[in-house]
Amino acid sequence: MSRELRDARSLHSGREDRVDGAPSRAWWRDAVGYEVYIRSFADGNYDGVGDLVGLRDRLEHLAWLGVDLVWITPFYPSPMADHGYDVSDYCDVDPAFGTLDDFDSVVLEAHRLGLRVMVDIVPNHTSDQHPWFVDARRHRRSQHRDWYVWRDPGADGGPPNNWVSSFGGPAWTLDAGTGQYYMHLFLPEQPDLNWNERAVAEAFAQIIGFWLDRGVDGFRIDVAHSLVEDQAFPDNPTIGPVAPEMTPRQAFRCFEHLYDLDQPGVTDIYRRWRQLADQHGAVLLGEVYLHEAQRVSRYVEPDALHAAFYFKAMSMPWGAAGVRAMLAAGVESGSGRFAWVQASHDERRSVTRFGGGAEGRERALVLSTLYAGLPGMMFLYQGEELALADGVVPPDRLTDPVGTRNVNPAGSRDGARTPMPWADVDGFGFTAPGVEPWLPFGGRGAADTVSVQRRDPASWLYRYRSLIAARRSLPPTEGTVEWLVDDPDRLVAYRRGGLSVSANVSDEALDLPPLDGTWSVHFATDPACTLRRLPPRSALLALRSP
Ligand code: NOJ
Repeated sequence: MSRELRDARSLHSGREDRVDGAPSRAWWRDAVGYEVYIRSFADGNYDGVGDLVGLRDRLEHLAWLGVDLVWITPFYPSPMADHGYDVSDYCDVDPAFGTLDDFDSVVLEAHRLGLRVMVDIVPNHTSDQHPWFVDARRHRRSQHRDWYVWRDPGADGGPPNNWVSSFGGPAWTLDAGTGQYYMHLFLPEQPDLNWNERAVAEAFAQIIGFWLDRGVDGFRIDVAHSLVEDQAFPDNPTIGPVAPEMTPRQAFRCFEHLYDLDQPGVTDIYRRWRQLADQHGAVLLGEVYLHEAQRVSRYVEPDALHAAFYFKAMSMPWGAAGVRAMLAAGVESGSGRFAWVQASHDERRSVTRFGGGAEGRERALVLSTLYAGLPGMMFLYQGEELALADGVVPPDRLTDPVGTRNVNPAGSRDGARTPMPWADVDGFGFTAPGVEPWLPFGGRGAADTVSVQRRDPASWLYRYRSLIAARRSLPPTEGTVEWLVDDPDRLVAYRRGGLSVSANVSDEALDLPPLDGTWSVHFATDPACTLRRLPPRSALLALRSP
């Protein structure tokens, strides 16, 4: 590691942030994070695919926006069957994304700008091209055989049980050479690791140490709830029949996942990682894709993960009751350790999910405003600050295996992954003019771009930036969250100490009940918001005068 990199890092690590000798809040607790989907963020070498140099050169945008933390999706060597979530070497950079030196330069520049860097770690599965799996399938007694999950065929010669892959079809593929099935919760090219094998745990401790030594400030842990399976491998109970025209998600929901997901013992894996991370002041943030808040809370017990994403908003229809219930459950079960999120590279963008158009955009900002006053980290997905809806990807340009390998392409995640529109020019400032991007831009216009929005103080970009600044300048957000229940069908509102947050989630203007004492507007999604009245689909943060 270069001296510059070490110096920059020492500014940012530190086991405990201390003020006057007393421990202060850990840096990540209320951090605003930003997800960079590396393929689609910025193309530094003009080959149509986003990369680390492109990211480095655009970090200034994130510093200007005011976020604290940048999560970068996998950039490791990969055959790209799942666009990088099929890793064939955990300690290097895929040539499509650059080099390890490029990665160091991202960390250096991020730290110079006061941004922390989080990398994605994929411990549930490797690529089938990873040398571990290549060796495992050579024969039944190979050194790495037990690093993966192998079972004999079922009585009928078919898969050993009825488990299905999240990406469609059975969760088992027969390895003809050795006569056994291997398990894969995702693609056949993504064999699941066997976390009962001690050597797997040793290997990942090394990998985590490798990236901590390179100066990263945290890890986003891919499918953090899936690493362990019931060792008796029983069938999952069936909820309904699977039909061929179903999307993989619909088919997955035809089973009660009693034995393949969220098993006892999975959090034990993280206790060791926690010690490593704590030595560097780094954060472990789990992708715990369980919608029930209470189940997620088990992953953030004191010596397990520091924090976990809370994804309930991804499956929530818009409406006051649903929004309030989602938030209240997250506050109660999360104890400040849930990371609030409404969009990612895996879901349709929230603007689209919440109805699209101006309405969808307003609703998405309202939800972020509700998040802003709550304890816990909060994340934006690239382009959320521009209020982007999903891009339009024609059927012949789909690349996501969830869409291309199934009868029904509706589950494709490509619409959420179209390249960032930076500027109103050919190539949208993502790549050079005339270069074909890996996914089409999807119908973006001038008004969607960073450069146009940055010239307009009334733009979405400025509103998100003001919201982040408002959150940052809140007085210490300790204190319990009290939900207000006036007008339950239209208003979602809470108090937290001297902070009042009110959101009109309805499509009509709403009069607010009077606040006791003297209050001032700290942030409003719409200039027409007042302490007494909210326009349709608007929200405000208000502070009580001391
Ligand atoms: C979750 C990731 O976010 C997603 O993109 C990926 O396909 C699966 N995990 C499998 O790694």
